[in-house]
Amino acid sequence: MDKLMITGGTPLNGELRISGAKNAALPILAGTLLSDTPISVGNVPHLLDITTTLELLGRMGVGLTVDEKLNVEVDPTAIKSFTAPYDLVKTMRASILVLGPLVAKFGRAEVSLPGGCAIGGRPVNLHLAGLAQMGAEIEVRNGYIHAKAKRLKGCRLVLDLVTVTGTENLMMAATLAEGTTIIENAAREPEVVDLARFLNMMGANIQGAGTDVLVIEGVDSLSANGQNYRVMPDRIEAGTYLVAGAMTGGKVKLKDVRSDILDAVLQKLRESGAKIVTTEDTIELDMDGQRPHSVSLRTAPYPAFPTDMQAQFMALNAVADGVAVITETIFENRFMHVQEMQRMGADITVESNTAIIRGKPQLNAAPVMATDLRASASLVLAALVAEGQTVVDRIYHIDRGYECIEEKLAQLGAEIRRVPQ
Ligand code: EPU
Repeated sequence: MDKLMITGGTPLNGELRISGAKNAALPILAGTLLSDTPISVGNVPHLLDITTTLELLGRMGVGLTVDEKLNVEVDPTAIKSFTAPYDLVKTMRASILVLGPLVAKFGRAEVSLPGGCAIGGRPVNLHLAGLAQMGAEIEVRNGYIHAKAKRLKGCRLVLDLVTVTGTENLMMAATLAEGTTIIENAAREPEVVDLARFLNMMGANIQGAGTDVLVIEGVDSLSANGQNYRVMPDRIEAGTYLVAGAMTGGKVKLKDVRSDILDAVLQKLRESGAKIVTTEDTIELDMDGQRPHSVSLRTAPYPAFPTDMQAQFMALNAVADGVAVITETIFENRFMHVQEMQRMGADITVESNTAIIRGKPQLNAAPVMATDLRASASLVLAALVAEGQTVVDRIYHIDRGYECIEEKLAQLGAEIRRVPQ
């Protein structure tokens, strides 16, 4: 397993290009299954989760060509298997995203149940209940979801709670259903909007993406007609590098990014003392060499503060001036990074879903271990401001969601290197 060795203390300075969004590319690649013709997807990030998705599609018989710029040509016309096996689903829960498209297009799917996960239970009951309401027969047997349907029927779905991949799965299923589907209490995340744009490009009729009510008029078929879809920029990758700039008292400019979908994060960075200037596709953060102020926050569905940025702001608060309170409302177990940060000298107290962080001027290097994707990123950030050399182990979690993190941070002047094992 590769490790990262990071020597802290250098303020980050420079420019970076932000990659395509993992959490938009994953549902879009699953959504290609709905197309009657080959389709091309661009700005796909080079990540372990994308490789896993391509392997999953490949095993189903989908034709795939990836060029060096990570444009992916997908040919779903020769599909011969409708199964997402346990060995892939257990490494990437987002595999569940093939369920809706498979049932809608081919009338059958066998998808392994994802099981537990480092950040919480993460059931998929709402995905299944929604598909059942649309007429799918669903049975859970031997750890697999077996779903069958002749043609799904549009209906009104009211989701019990806001679920991102649940909304995406049901929205994809509804594109080919007979009649109109209304999804209420839908997720408003920008990645849901990107998926809806992609599906509409293929001829779907989805309205309301970005609001909490989606109206989907079913169509008979979807086809890309030779068009190429470009995946949106990754707002969480962007936010992570901005926090790195802020924590180290640096100056960082991001390119190929969207500031309009980062409001809650930029607001917290401004509160911490950062000067931020945005254009249509750049964000520049300048800390003027200052130590950040503590910022309290509460995670909630978009447009509120994203849970995927919680760990990174924990790292910022660990070295900020003041006391912060962070409340996690989306996942019940998303504080796994706290114990590792405590090993680096952070002063953090956790009570149920709330953490109290008393900022210290400096952290100390220590060997630490990554437990999930965003937790790993937060440990890398903490290492950037720690005295000495930190070794971050189990970084395959980082490779799931951050494209070339060590190269990008090195480009900003960080002392970081990957040690292969
Ligand atoms: N939930 C249920 N039942 C369901 C579905 C969800 O109880 O059927 C609960 C979950 O257990 C959780 C809450 O609803 O407590 C919200 O979960 P959601 O379904 O929105 O999460 P997700 O769709 O599995 C996506 C992202 C996550 C991100 C969350 C929240 C993808 C591929 N994953 O997960 O991204 O944290 O939304 O915004 O889009 C990451 O990138 O590191 C990551 C974990």
